[in-house]
Amino acid sequence: MKRIPSATLRLAAAGLTVVSISTAVGAGLAQQAPNRTPVEIGVYSGRHYNTDKELYRQFTARTGIKVNVLESKDDAIIERLKSEGRNTPADVLVLVDAARLDIATDQGLFQPTRSAALQRDVPANLRDSQGRWYGLTRRVRAVVVNPKLVNPATIRTYADLANPALKGKLCLRERKSPYNQSLVASQMILRGDATTRNWVRGMVANVKQPFFTSDTPLARAVARGECAVGVVNSYYVARMLSGAGGAEDKRLAQQVKIVYVNPSHVNISGAGVTRHAKNPQAALRLIEFLASPTGGRGYAEANNEYPLKGVGNNPYLKGFGTFRADGVSVEQIGSRSRAATQMMEANGWK
Ligand SMILES: [Fe+2]
Repeated sequence: MKRIPSATLRLAAAGLTVVSISTAVGAGLAQQAPNRTPVEIGVYSGRHYNTDKELYRQFTARTGIKVNVLESKDDAIIERLKSEGRNTPADVLVLVDAARLDIATDQGLFQPTRSAALQRDVPANLRDSQGRWYGLTRRVRAVVVNPKLVNPATIRTYADLANPALKGKLCLRERKSPYNQSLVASQMILRGDATTRNWVRGMVANVKQPFFTSDTPLARAVARGECAVGVVNSYYVARMLSGAGGAEDKRLAQQVKIVYVNPSHVNISGAGVTRHAKNPQAALRLIEFLASPTGGRGYAEANNEYPLKGVGNNPYLKGFGTFRADGVSVEQIGSRSRAATQMMEANGWK
């Protein structure tokens, strides 16, 4: 890859500061000339939280770079970007979960980038080693417990979910959820394939049917006592507690306890510059903003997630207590996610 030297992008609009960006973009992309007309970038995002748009507005106010957002389901976005090829209007691709970032990377939808700001702001295990994507927010795969049915203190690790004492009491989301694919991949990396296979078998033996299609109904089922324990991203229960999903969800969320097992699997939402970006430098600046302590906090809070560093100020997340991240590289998790999916399928995870 050819390196384009550090560039200073001068924004001509009155009142805007000159911003230095250190970046190198992939070969074949011309360096943008200092731009006197408003720059526009397109963002395809698998995040679909209205509050994200406020962050994009803040970025535009700061930089003068206009952001056009298309939000859709991750898989649909990946397909769209593939079919659009070099005609895509997307400069930035935002996806949730290591498994999906890995798919998009394998399909060549990102281009490698370099950024001193991103190397500083995004911990190394939360970004691609070749700079094709960068983590923006962190989400923790947690155990949701109905304390009337199971003592939360008996759940200390994911391994405890395979305890035969939980037979008929465990609710799981279906195999095709990348959240669970990544969870299983993280266990393969930490505990090896044989141990993980036995764990998957033990959990499947404990499952109360059916397998759920998403985390929120699963959390509701735990709250109603239809199952005693389940596995969810904690932001779903935080969202229920916040009342954003209505009074009934709030009441239900108050019936459950979130347990952060030790260590916890941490996943990300992440973004990269698309291979065919028209404005790769402006695209990288948006990613830098979203990963910065200022922008990143808002992006995390928008979905009750954790920022890249520290735990933020979300009152619902604070109520869940602290967690210890397992520290596994998200890139490595992505690369094992297909093997994880095969293991799940072979062992009865529907
Ligand atoms: Fe989600």
